[in-house]
Amino acid sequence: MDQSTGEAAESCHISVMPSEIVHWIQECDPRVIVDGTYGGGGHSRLLLDKLPAGEGHVIGLDRDPAVSLRVESESHDPRLDVFLGSYEQAPKALAAMELKSADAFVLDLGLSSDQLADRDRGFSFTTDGPLDLRFDPENGVPASQWLANHKEVDIANAIYQFGEERFSRRIARAIVLRGKERKPVRTVNDLVEICRRCVPRSKNHDIHPATRTFQALRIAVNDELEILTRTLADAPNWIAGGGRIAVISFHSLEDRIVKNAFRDDDRWNILTKKPLRPSDAEVAANPRSRSAKLRVAERVADTA
Ligand SMILES: C[S@@+](CC[C@H](N)C(=O)[O-])C[C@H]1O[C@@H](n2cnc3c(N)ncnc32)[C@H](O)[C@@H]1O
Repeated sequence: MDQSTGEAAESCHISVMPSEIVHWIQECDPRVIVDGTYGGGGHSRLLLDKLPAGEGHVIGLDRDPAVSLRVESESHDPRLDVFLGSYEQAPKALAAMELKSADAFVLDLGLSSDQLADRDRGFSFTTDGPLDLRFDPENGVPASQWLANHKEVDIANAIYQFGEERFSRRIARAIVLRGKERKPVRTVNDLVEICRRCVPRSKNHDIHPATRTFQALRIAVNDELEILTRTLADAPNWIAGGGRIAVISFHSLEDRIVKNAFRDDDRWNILTKKPLRPSDAEVAANPRSRSAKLRVAERVADTA
């Protein structure tokens, strides 16, 4: 939101692997596409452009109310409908459009540059602000509250499991100690300061000491991995035979879930044996894309 005008600002997000998404989705000649992580709408717009003129439909979903506000304030293609909600609700969104199935489903996981730039959200550990980390600030509890509600062992386990942070126990101890000293962790800087003290600098200083802890808390607060697992297990029930799913993930925990979900359900025909990576040119132009991995699968047609 632009505080001076009260208007929703334009998205500053640059879509990741845009030509790859268009290529793999367009190949199945879809009419109904679900973009489960609408964000700045970049992938949706590209896919709308590839639908036959005046035909087809793109249904966008995003958990972030700021996304819905932005979409409402923009003029957009009448073939696009954006719903506020988790991508897990895709079947409900389809039903609201009186549709039973989709031909394509796109997920571009993680957070957008718009969210990263919003200092009230707490996603960027280089800018101080409230430690919130929710995709949907109107539901659930902010990360500061999540820390206050959990025991040291649970905090340590979450930081270890979701952040793969070796110094999780030290960090959890320092967080809980601050609570006992009546100085609970409330802000981004509170947590960054703890991480700086507890995590030795990486060898080539290429990773900030707070990176893994912030990733872990974001995953925990938003229940990201559970939602992804449940959604991928359900997706073959509402993606039409011959339809496709394309998922861009940004860390190994997500990628493992996608890989296993495709491998373990024989209704998927895996189209990318190995995950696809952004080109060097894309990484140079958009460094945020550097850890992206894209996996694509096709829904096998049901035999009668
Ligand atoms: C990387 S951005 C997507 C960018 C988009 N593909 C584009 O090209 O502009 C990820 C978006 O997914 C949203 N998100 C995260 N988890 C979600 C969930 N479970 N359901 C719906 N949206 C989610 C975030 O709020 C964020 O806006």
